[in-house]
Amino acid sequence: MRQVKEYSIEVRNIEVSFGDFNVLKGVSLEIEKGQFYGILGPNGSGKTTLLKSMAKALRPQSGAIFVDGEDIGRMRAREFSKKVACLYQSTAITYDYPVMDVVLMGRYPYIKRFQTESVKDREIAKKAMIASNVWHLKDRRINEISGGERQRVFIARALVQETDIVLLDEPISHLDIQHQIEILELAGKMAKEGKSIVAVLHDLNFASMYCDHLIMLKDGAIVAQGEPQKVLTEEIVKKVYGVKPFIIDGMNGNRPYVLPLKKQGA
Ligand SMILES: Nc1ncnc2c1ncn2[C@@H]1O[C@H](COP(=O)(O)OP(=O)(O)OP(=O)(O)O)[C@@H](O)[C@H]1O
Ligand SMILES: [Mg+2]
Repeated sequence: MRQVKEYSIEVRNIEVSFGDFNVLKGVSLEIEKGQFYGILGPNGSGKTTLLKSMAKALRPQSGAIFVDGEDIGRMRAREFSKKVACLYQSTAITYDYPVMDVVLMGRYPYIKRFQTESVKDREIAKKAMIASNVWHLKDRRINEISGGERQRVFIARALVQETDIVLLDEPISHLDIQHQIEILELAGKMAKEGKSIVAVLHDLNFASMYCDHLIMLKDGAIVAQGEPQKVLTEEIVKKVYGVKPFIIDGMNGNRPYVLPLKKQGA
């Protein structure tokens, strides 16, 4: 019997333009429940634009996006934020609140007007902060902690939204390798617990190690998608990045390892 897959997000042929500049040129994809997806591609290839479209922060000029079968263009903001949380790429900070308050902002879809957060909200925040390893920073001010620490605070803020879908734009870009691994392991664990995780990543090897599926973008279109072995081939990496790699098979749980080679002989 054919197994019916459960999709949490379906992107159908979306196009996004800024003025005359066509950034996404008809992108379609399906995100399965309980899976960890990595979106890869060079700078400017449209990764953030795609993620923002899925987060309802950008409205495509054509095509549609469905979350649990519902067109997101028709969903109310509050309902949508109970289903999808998004960590944006290097968020600008214009406020100077304590870390705990910043994390609690993620609870806003659940807090009624004129109410403040409850003991339960604080417990959820504590759990998320322990998971992203920032509990010890709870009383510090957001502008007084390091860039990597702040990144982990924003991850905690996305977690407290308690959504089934979590979108992460470069969640590990400012982190040291220990924290990179911690965040990716956390993302993998959340996927195993049934969430759909979609992360934009630049590190091909971490993407290979942790993601179940990879989606490779180039110039606003998907050039390859599937399991890491299928996407991280010498041919595709060379075509997309213009860099000739050496691929070592069977690393870190039988995943391909991409070793970039110098352009000129050493
Ligand atoms: N608001 C905007 N107005 C005009 N052009 C934009 C806007 N946002 C993005 N672009 C352009 O769209 C293209 C894709 O941008 P996007 O941010 O999606 O790339 P990206 O793949 O996330 O790149 P990076 O790896 O550098 O984060 C870029 O050429 C960018 O300059
Ligand atoms: Mg980006």
